[in-house]
Amino acid sequence: MTPSAASPAPVTSNTLIDWSDELSVGIQEIDDQHQFLVELLNKLHRAIHQRQGTAAAQAILVELADYTRIHFAVEESLMRILGYPGYADHKQQHDHLIEEIGELQEKLESGKKSITFELLHFLRIWLTRHIMEEDQQYSPFFLSRGAVATGDKASIAGRLWKSLFG
Ligand SMILES: [Fe+2]
Repeated sequence: MTPSAASPAPVTSNTLIDWSDELSVGIQEIDDQHQFLVELLNKLHRAIHQRQGTAAAQAILVELADYTRIHFAVEESLMRILGYPGYADHKQQHDHLIEEIGELQEKLESGKKSITFELLHFLRIWLTRHIMEEDQQYSPFFLSRGAVATGDKASIAGRLWKSLFG
């Protein structure tokens, strides 16, 4: 992937990505999961900033890869259940992103690559571009099929998030 297209919120020294409305897909449950992914990237960013070491950064990357797989599986299930017409294309995007993060993990584990700010930039684009260019496309369809809009009520993921970290 070339880190170019999307222009998400500005980077500050404490965060890699600041959550903003432009990242919202307008569906509470999905936004909560995306915010969790954003938080994991910010955690990785902090680990690198604070020089916590390769093992710490790799552990966060594992968390990120695992949660990404879960999140994509949720999105794909919803698409199949609701009969979303863009399912095949979206699934292909997911498979590609999973492949990319898998390759990255292999390179890091074998020492062919190290966790750098360049890599963080890649991951930032990797996530924000998918949300803004692919995920936002399914919102109208999901909402028209009864998905709970952002702000309407706390989602399961939101409640879980608050009980764990709030
Ligand atoms: Fe997606």
